[in-house]
Amino acid sequence: MFAFISFQRLILVGASDISKFQAWQDAGLVLSTTSNEACKLFDAVLTQYATWTNNESLGGIDGCLAKLKAADPNFTMGHVIANGLELIGTGRTVRLDKELDSAVRAMVALSQSQALTERERLHVSALDVFARGQLPKACDLWEQILQSHPTDLLALKFSHDTYFYLGHQRQMRDSVARVYPFWTRDVPLSSYVKGYYSFGLVETNLFDHAEKVAHEALAINQRDAWSVHTIAHVNEMKAEVEKGLKFMKETEKNWKSSDMLACHNYWHWALYYIEKGEYEAALTIYDQHIAPPCLASGNILDVVDNSSMLYRLHLEGVELGDRWNDLLGVTKKHTKDHILLFNDVHFLMSFLGAKDHKTTEELLTTLQELARAPREDHQLSLAPSLGLPLCQAFVEFENGNCDKAVDLLYPIRYELVQVGGSDAQRDVFSLLLIHAALNSKSKAKRNLARCLLHERDMMRPKSPMTERLIRKAAAVHSMA
Ligand SMILES: [Fe+2]
Repeated sequence: MFAFISFQRLILVGASDISKFQAWQDAGLVLSTTSNEACKLFDAVLTQYATWTNNESLGGIDGCLAKLKAADPNFTMGHVIANGLELIGTGRTVRLDKELDSAVRAMVALSQSQALTERERLHVSALDVFARGQLPKACDLWEQILQSHPTDLLALKFSHDTYFYLGHQRQMRDSVARVYPFWTRDVPLSSYVKGYYSFGLVETNLFDHAEKVAHEALAINQRDAWSVHTIAHVNEMKAEVEKGLKFMKETEKNWKSSDMLACHNYWHWALYYIEKGEYEAALTIYDQHIAPPCLASGNILDVVDNSSMLYRLHLEGVELGDRWNDLLGVTKKHTKDHILLFNDVHFLMSFLGAKDHKTTEELLTTLQELARAPREDHQLSLAPSLGLPLCQAFVEFENGNCDKAVDLLYPIRYELVQVGGSDAQRDVFSLLLIHAALNSKSKAKRNLARCLLHERDMMRPKSPMTERLIRKAAAVHSMA
């Protein structure tokens, strides 16, 4: 048995510093393996995940996972982190992917054959239920770990990401708050925990507090791309466009090498340009920094960013050339996934953008079929009330049936937080509703558009986009 070891700490003090091993063991984060190398690699993977950055000198996360498996094939927590990253990535599901299903089953079987700690067993159980779509239950199990092991970074980050998928905004904030006092400055990676907390704060509209905590994290480590991301959200939510542009430009050198998050931070940057109506500038960022990583990696967060960016530009009437078709090459294989409704609707945007009617229909029918069958899957349980009407609203809008799109979307608008994502990401649904209402045949719905824009203006008083839409609504109204 070895204690949980900070990889950074190992490099600093050397593996011979037994007292440091003991210090971690005293923290209670025991890893059941006889391989010191496996412990180091576990920590290397966790560090890269927690910091959103593949360290190529270590072989990246994939390289480290391969070496980890070789160092100790029977190391249960090695299987936990490997399977957990696959599942949290939301690009694969055990329902359709036999290899992933086998890996999860093998992890569970392995854990049952070993004398593990209670913490390790809870990690296995959390992934087991996550794989079966029981995301809230998985969070409960990670919380159970954190109550007794507040510095278990893997439990903290897995639960943080899963709350995000669930749209559990307060839980995302409070989960970190509950362990926050234990993450003192001497604990490795503690500044990143400030970043996680700051994001929970911004998603619960505590903008000033969020910005303060994110700046505290950046004062310790300016390369913390997630804390940069929090500040990008604060500026987005307040429509502080010039401040947002300046901040992203000034900090770009610090986060552009965070390969797992850079695309998303560029997405935030481009949103400011869409706000300003500077579409060419937004497209330049898209072409240089948002499309290439998505087309190369197919990572789901990158896919979501691509679909969302193109759809917002589409709503603004921007000509997009072949970009939808390029994106279709990445999204089409996910037509039947139905892992997260949030992902589904973003895949759908790309199908609609590329005018691929057959794939659009396939996504809708397979989602309907899965939603009809009784299942324990949390996301699928939301499909009839939220996922399907949301997807159908996009389809109706694209078919020119704007009144129908409003009828589908307006009643569920306050419930859509349950499909997950951030407030900034889900804003594309609000924009769709406004555009659909603006273009409706019914005068009542066009009046609704004006009301929705007043509401938007109250929340983001400096938004140039809202001003443009209000002018458009006034013009539509005067013509009626
Ligand atoms: Fe974001």
